[in-house]
Amino acid sequence: MPDSQKIYLKDYTPPAYLVDTVHLTFKLSPNATRVNSKIRFRPNPDSDSRDFFVHGEHLTLIRAAIDGQECSPVVTDKGLTAQAPDAPFTWEAEVEINPQDNTALEGLYMSNGMYCTQCEAEGFRRITYYPDRPDVMATFTVRIEGDLPVLLSNGNPTASGDGWAEWHDPWPKPSYLFALVAGDLRNHPDSFTTKSGRKVDLNIWVRPDDIDKCAFGMEALKKSMKWDEDVYGREYDLDLFNIVAVDDFNMGAMENKGLNIFNSSCVLASPETATDANFERIEAIIAHEYFHNWTGNRITCRDWFQLCLKEGLTVYRDSQFTSDVRSRAVKRISDVDGLRAVQFREDNGPLAHPVRPDSFVEINNFYTATVYEKGAEVVGMLKRLVGDDAYAQALDLYFERHDGQAVTIEDWLKVFEDTTGRDLGQFMRWYSQAGTPRLTVTDDFKDSTYTLNFKQYTPPTPGQDVKQPQVIPIAVGLLTPNGDEVQETVVLEMTKPEQSFEFKGLSSRPVPSILREFSAPVILEQDTDNETRAFLMAHDTDPFNRRESGNALARDVLRRMITDGAAPDPMYLEAKAKILTDEALDPAFRALVMSLPTQEELAQMLFDTGHTPDPEAIFNATQTLAQASAERLKQDLPRIYAAHQVKGPYSPDAGPAGHRVLANSALWLLSRLDGCKQAQAQYDAADNMTQQISALGCLQYFDHGADATQAFYDQWRHDRLVIDKWFAMQVSNTRPDQTVATAQALTEHADFDMKNPNRFRAVFGALAWHHAGFHQADGAGYRLLADWLIKLDPVNPQTTARMSTAFQSWRRYDEGRQALMRAELERIMSTPDLSGDTGEMVGRILE
Ligand code: PHE
Ligand code: ZN
Repeated sequence: MPDSQKIYLKDYTPPAYLVDTVHLTFKLSPNATRVNSKIRFRPNPDSDSRDFFVHGEHLTLIRAAIDGQECSPVVTDKGLTAQAPDAPFTWEAEVEINPQDNTALEGLYMSNGMYCTQCEAEGFRRITYYPDRPDVMATFTVRIEGDLPVLLSNGNPTASGDGWAEWHDPWPKPSYLFALVAGDLRNHPDSFTTKSGRKVDLNIWVRPDDIDKCAFGMEALKKSMKWDEDVYGREYDLDLFNIVAVDDFNMGAMENKGLNIFNSSCVLASPETATDANFERIEAIIAHEYFHNWTGNRITCRDWFQLCLKEGLTVYRDSQFTSDVRSRAVKRISDVDGLRAVQFREDNGPLAHPVRPDSFVEINNFYTATVYEKGAEVVGMLKRLVGDDAYAQALDLYFERHDGQAVTIEDWLKVFEDTTGRDLGQFMRWYSQAGTPRLTVTDDFKDSTYTLNFKQYTPPTPGQDVKQPQVIPIAVGLLTPNGDEVQETVVLEMTKPEQSFEFKGLSSRPVPSILREFSAPVILEQDTDNETRAFLMAHDTDPFNRRESGNALARDVLRRMITDGAAPDPMYLEAKAKILTDEALDPAFRALVMSLPTQEELAQMLFDTGHTPDPEAIFNATQTLAQASAERLKQDLPRIYAAHQVKGPYSPDAGPAGHRVLANSALWLLSRLDGCKQAQAQYDAADNMTQQISALGCLQYFDHGADATQAFYDQWRHDRLVIDKWFAMQVSNTRPDQTVATAQALTEHADFDMKNPNRFRAVFGALAWHHAGFHQADGAGYRLLADWLIKLDPVNPQTTARMSTAFQSWRRYDEGRQALMRAELERIMSTPDLSGDTGEMVGRILE
């Protein structure tokens, strides 16, 4: 990628003009929507420049005027420049746009007859000419004219009539938070009274068929509003809060002020159509978008390099919320599983970038696990370092000091420095240095003193050859050999490349439990024997580390099976059986202990320990180990399965969901022994989607699924979200030699529609995540994915670019696979008119 296309953080300059008010009028029409804008500009006292530039892409300019005088600006495909006064003035423009043909789903587009917008990050410039950057904040007044029953925009409704509506948003906002929705929609209404006694109307707007799938989302919204008042003291600030569900959407959801827009898969749920996991995810996403009202909207980002300012903090807040309303241990374990599977992979490959990147070509490519999930880890570390009280005080100061502003990570850290008096200069490296630190630990015991010796090292990442030591909060506890805790959790603050910590007055050598709750996003390298791991798996008082020891043990067992042809280690099988059968433990936790490390995780682990991962060998080893587990547990499985059946009406709460996840992981193993008899019975009796899909998964995986797969389709063909699952499951549950053929056949199904991102991701996301299937030695998986990325790119560049990350770990594999992947990447790269999004991503992967 030529460096000239790159934008650098260090080049930031304030805008020449600021905006006070924006008036927009939309005359909706599928192929020719007219947008009239009237914008009050004034010179920015913090800028010397008086160059008037406004962004604009894919717009047809009909007319422009400054202070009522028609003007003839210089128009390019990026925007326009004009002669503007060195004093406040009114800009007016009329443009025409084409929502119907907008398949990129950025700006104003149509989805099933409904008009919808997506402006983050830089979509507003596809709606009208505007300084489309987050440090320009203004109040918006919007008039919508269109022959549709529901016409929505941000803020509060001010007037409406037949075929028109007017809205006013009193809170100054950047253009990326603008939204408009128009369609034949039904609402699920409710209300919430804030802590100061204001009544807020709440609505979830959906297509008429979906009206019975809103109740859960509404409860989640009210819970989130209450939680943000209780925990962060944040009250909602408008009379109305709208959520809209849309079928065609590139991401999960969007926090537009007062008008959140959701991918329908992230808000619609009923017991018959959504799984327990879907319910939990929906609750978290509703909370996430709602929490953005303060962390993102009231206080926003100065520029897109600061994206983690809103995303890292808001992900952290939604994870706190889920921990509070569900189980803290289970939430932490699943978050860390996700972090390792996605973020560690990113941080250890060609796409590695700092939590706050310092350059980019296309900002859409930086909505990454590093910005979001590692960004949240960084906030969590900050809280652990300063303590809960100081964290609360710092946040109060943040809201007070920066309300209504567009700020930076420096501003964010400054509130912590001012609150605590600490110097966070070194901590800042978590934002500026890419890569996952390796933390190695050894220990000594002498004269009643136990010493832990740590070393940190972060490998080079693209553009950053040398790394400085980071501040690593290491939560540690110590156990006696009979399982009592002699040292409860303390947080060691490591700041140097090598550092030792002493624990005095111990009568015998303790067993350390290190990095409790995963207190820092690092790779811990610890020379522990498997007896100790099994001991910690049974006795650690920190549930995260209890599961982690089990996982570390499983990784080691699998590594020996893969590289030395070892047999499944009976010690692991015993330790696992002990947890599975311990009825005193939380069922959801037991299910997590049952799960094996993902094949993707194993591939990375093998690579890190100097092996070339062989996807077939990895697949076979996990099969062998699962089979051995099933046989070891032969006596227990039917009993556990039966004991955790949930009676009565379905509830998605953590309690019953935990029983189901445990019973269903028992079913999975049981299906290896009983020819899927129990799975078939469960499929036939299922009255909720969790039970139905768990059973279907077993049937498909063990090749008994043909009839059920057809029956499932016949039952659900009218429900697109369920049919997305149907597409994905057929690919995920294949044997590796069938994965590509199955995905290929599904692209020919009448219901496959590449223009719908959910459907495209159902097939190709499942292909990319089927480790052994995607990495089939003949390269068929690579070819199929590349073929479809090339087809999708002109339609939807953003989704194409994201899906191309399936190739990011290509350098991990053997030469044959590397050559095959490189060839596909180069084929994509040489496609005529390839989008900038995909070009940047594939270019970085190849570099
Ligand atoms: N800002 C959204 C969120 O995380 C994500 C998003 C980004 C949605 C870009 C659409 C486009 O909540
Ligand atoms: Zn977000």
